[in-house]
Amino acid sequence: MINEKMMQLGNVRSVIRELFEYGKKRIAEVGAENVYDFSLGNPSVPAPAEVNAALIELLQTKDDNYLHGYTSAQGDANTRAAIAADLNKRFGTSFRADNFYMTCGAAASLKISLTALYTPGDEVITFTPYFPEYRVFVETTGAKFVEVQSDPDTFQIDFDNLEAAINEKTKAIIMNSPNNPSGVVFKTASIEKLAALLEARAAEYGHPIYLITDEPYRELVYDAETEVPYVTKYYKNTIVCYSYSKSLSLPGERIGYILVPDEIENSADVYAAVCGAGRALGYVCAPSLAQHMVEKCTGLVSDLSIYKENRDLLYNTLTEYGYSCVYPDGAFYLFVKTMEPDAGAFCERAKAHDLLLVPADSFGTPGYLRIAYCVQTDMIRRALPAFKALADEYRS
Ligand SMILES: Cc1ncc(COP(=O)(O)O)c(C=O)c1O
Repeated sequence: MINEKMMQLGNVRSVIRELFEYGKKRIAEVGAENVYDFSLGNPSVPAPAEVNAALIELLQTKDDNYLHGYTSAQGDANTRAAIAADLNKRFGTSFRADNFYMTCGAAASLKISLTALYTPGDEVITFTPYFPEYRVFVETTGAKFVEVQSDPDTFQIDFDNLEAAINEKTKAIIMNSPNNPSGVVFKTASIEKLAALLEARAAEYGHPIYLITDEPYRELVYDAETEVPYVTKYYKNTIVCYSYSKSLSLPGERIGYILVPDEIENSADVYAAVCGAGRALGYVCAPSLAQHMVEKCTGLVSDLSIYKENRDLLYNTLTEYGYSCVYPDGAFYLFVKTMEPDAGAFCERAKAHDLLLVPADSFGTPGYLRIAYCVQTDMIRRALPAFKALADEYRS
């Protein structure tokens, strides 16, 4: 016998993968310039030049053992110290190298953190809309996955819904801001209110409720006034799951970290559990070359001006065409209300215009679709008549 649950997970094709395959077929039929693929969150902007320069310098100056050998299980000490120094400079924090555990990206950070915290009977809450893999990570850890509906107009936290969902079994809340798929950034006031609520409930239940902040898009914001609060400063029981996949445009390098601040209750035990979970899951020693590169590139970000141009072009034009969409402060997604309640049916009709859009049911928010605008600006320009024709179809 094999593990049925794993077999199911492996067999279920994601909507995004289906679209990707469909897109390849259509490209063969009508040509790449006539297919408008907005399905994948794969950064379209190149990594900062310093990334390749750092890799070249490393390859030219370091020996093979340093480049390709194991680091310590939790990651290279110099890399972790460089990350701590960068965050301390940017956010006025006082992290140390030993607060960090290097990982293969945010997916690994989340799975390790959830495994480290899990005890039988736990519930883990997240806000809609959410990255669909959260359900997989939580449920395969053994915990119950609990969705809390956000405010439908703003996609900020709905505190009435959250208060009703938290109970003595709540072990953690996963939050993601800037958000995939809505692009929304949680306001400081929301974080403060969330912190107060979690403190109060933790005191009532006699155990901490951890806030796991999933932050691959932290740096991807486009307006000077948009502030992404550094959550550890507002709530002490915060675990940060970070990834360089989007900020440095290198999702294939699989590099990120978990931050367990000293302020967390029993922080040494939580950090030990993170190391233990990393070990149990086989996630020890994140890729060495990527770690050494990160040591030299902390604090850098890809050129965001292209994403900003894409966001402005799409948001302004689609809303002019009659599409309804919350203003996306960050990440590289537009979350659009579909013009009929069945998002799947709407996205099927979009396909007739060679628009590949992702129905958002698996993000916990039916009646919406996700547009990933990490694409060439030129493709957006070519796609606009198709968006207009689709909207006109629904109006007529
Ligand atoms: C919200 C969110 N969390 C986690 C991940 C996984 O990131 P990584 O590729 O670094 O594992 C993604 C990837 O798209 C994401 O959008």
